[in-house]
Amino acid sequence: MAPKITVIGTGYLGATHAAAMAELGFEVLGLDISPEKIEMLSAGNVPMYEPGLEELLRKHVAGRPGSSGRLRFTTSYEEVGEFGDIHFVCVNTPQKHGEYACDMSYVDSAFASLAPHLRRPALVVGKSTVPVGSAARLADLLAEQAPAGEDAELAWNPEFLREGFAVKDTLHPDRIVIGVTSERAEKQLREVYATPIAEGSPLVVTDFPTAELVKVAANSFLATKISFINAMAEVCEAADGDVAKLAEAIGHDERIGSKFLRAGIGFGGGCLPKDIRAFMARAGELGSPQALAFLREVDSVNMRRRGHMVELAREAVGGGFLGVRVAVLGAAFKPDSDDVRDSPALNVAGQIHLQGGQVTVYDPKAMENARRVFPTLGYAPSALEAARGADVVLHLTEWREFRELDPVALGEVVAERRLLDGRNALDPDTWREAGWTYRALGRPRA
Ligand code: UDX
Repeated sequence: MAPKITVIGTGYLGATHAAAMAELGFEVLGLDISPEKIEMLSAGNVPMYEPGLEELLRKHVAGRPGSSGRLRFTTSYEEVGEFGDIHFVCVNTPQKHGEYACDMSYVDSAFASLAPHLRRPALVVGKSTVPVGSAARLADLLAEQAPAGEDAELAWNPEFLREGFAVKDTLHPDRIVIGVTSERAEKQLREVYATPIAEGSPLVVTDFPTAELVKVAANSFLATKISFINAMAEVCEAADGDVAKLAEAIGHDERIGSKFLRAGIGFGGGCLPKDIRAFMARAGELGSPQALAFLREVDSVNMRRRGHMVELAREAVGGGFLGVRVAVLGAAFKPDSDDVRDSPALNVAGQIHLQGGQVTVYDPKAMENARRVFPTLGYAPSALEAARGADVVLHLTEWREFRELDPVALGEVVAERRLLDGRNALDPDTWREAGWTYRALGRPRA
């Protein structure tokens, strides 16, 4: 019989994983400690914007006409323990307040709440991004606290989904990594992922520490790639070179590859920034701080981008923001997401506002979240309205909608046709032809 699956924590990762498991044909029970979230999900509503996720949820959530009924939600650990053969732990691991290290309290409390309810053989699968060494500790905790004892086993199965592509990345992962200590656990996870494995997703079977490290290593590599190209942008600006051309040219080398070489205001979001910091902190605890000292530089190049964008904007408007109207296109940390966690766009908007600028923000999906974090900024219902009367327009999140803007129409509503492209995603010629002064990070002025 197919194993029954539970998913603990129904944020980005968990909600997507739960719906994907139902899509793969399993009976799924999702748990969250927030009753509001459970109520929403049970009604077929997703608390965040993620393309395709709501459709997938509605296709499977019990109680909706025409749904498979394979997906249910609860707040009860007891129910989860009774129901599941395989329990995926998907709670978040944010950065600790005032420290680089990762806050493990949600993971720890999920394990502590689940363990006493594991009365029959069960496989608990950690998916959260954790400091290396956590899995070994949590396996001991399960063995001690679960009534099933050694029959409550642990596996570690990091998740690599990207926001905006969460459904696709979960159903068709580019790799599946499982850290296991027994053949039984490996067999169970091969069964769970039988469909993507049959479709060709490579499976890497490893030990606990390697599985934990794969995730932070991958994110550190991605962050390094972005900061590398942003460092090149700094040099290009100093030398009057063009970082977009440079990226295009080095990207043709297959060993380098062209992805993740878009220079701009840098990376943000709920993963990359906190993961590289937690990784540095953990390496320090393990006695190898030097191994990851370069990540400090990666972080600092990244944070410098935001300040640099503010400087360029200040320069563009003549040296000061007082009384200056600034239109900000984009608030999400990346397009196709409403996530504003550590968003470079909002950070730039906030800095300009604090320096006296009159900032008006527009984002296709992240307005509500942005307003919550920065209630004092101005918000407009469209790009055109945000730009009305603006002395400068900043393009800070590369939504498709912004690439499709008509420079002539926008030019008619602004006070000055000045555009700063913080994402190197707009076509300079089109904007210049429409009479705009176009500037982008790491590219020549004219
Ligand atoms: C990332 C990893 O990609 C994913 O595998 C992991 O599971 C979670 O963290 P995500 O946070 O969704 O995913 O965003 P990602 O697409 O990696 O982008 C991160 C940031 O880098 C964004 O702010 C984006 O705008 C920025 N970025 C990306 C650049 O500045 N330049 C680029 O070339 C690419």
